[in-house]
Amino acid sequence: MSVWAVLAAAGRGERLDADRPKAFAPLRGRPLLAESLERLESSRWIDSIVVVAPPGWEEPVILLAEELGCGKVIASVAGGEKRGESVRLGVEEVGNDAAVILVHDAARPLVSDVVIERVVTPLSQGWDGAVPGLPLVDTVKRVRDSAVEETLPRGELMAVQTPQAFVAGVLRDAVAGDVASASDCASLVEARGGRVLVVDGDPRLLKVTTAEDLALVESWLA
Ligand code: CTP
Ligand code: MG
Repeated sequence: MSVWAVLAAAGRGERLDADRPKAFAPLRGRPLLAESLERLESSRWIDSIVVVAPPGWEEPVILLAEELGCGKVIASVAGGEKRGESVRLGVEEVGNDAAVILVHDAARPLVSDVVIERVVTPLSQGWDGAVPGLPLVDTVKRVRDSAVEETLPRGELMAVQTPQAFVAGVLRDAVAGDVASASDCASLVEARGGRVLVVDGDPRLLKVTTAEDLALVESWLA
């Protein structure tokens, strides 16, 4: 059984507002992407990696992978306008030997083998997908034009992260449809009736959005 990782790194990083795409913004003097790439490479669960690069950055991704000694990187392809499109383009490069496809955001540099194990192992127990989630600590309200419409039952809500793992055929089918409005891959699988398990997430899987997030992750690595 072969596990392929698709690393979504094609975003522009508009909220980070750097002079280059977010995946190449510096984290401890290296491109942000280097951290997750190295961690996926050294994971005993991952056999092969496809990187979805910002358009025009496919070659720098390959050079970075070579520099880091990431021999599991099979392809670097240009991403699309939306995350869902980038994932689909990455999944198209995944080999036919894949039993499981794990999708991860390069914007979450601190992926760990522990979390990868948590999302991969349920797939041999009948789940179509597994995602890391954290309980919400704040009260959550649905708001329109600054007016509260409703307070949601917090106990039923989770904040979901990546890496997300799926049975390969399930994810291939899910990304073949309309992906433009999906904010994660699990939602596409759910929409088709797939069974997705939530496992314990990790606060360190923070998604780097702003410069402050980058500084925070940097402080955790120091
Ligand atoms: N992503 C992608 N292709 C896109 C958009 C996003 O591969 N067209 C990836 C990003 O590279 C990131 C992950 O999806 O690893 C989560 O997206 P986000 O944090 O929103 O990153 P950006 O879209 O780059 O940031 P912003 O929304 O601030 O522009
Ligand atoms: Mg975005």
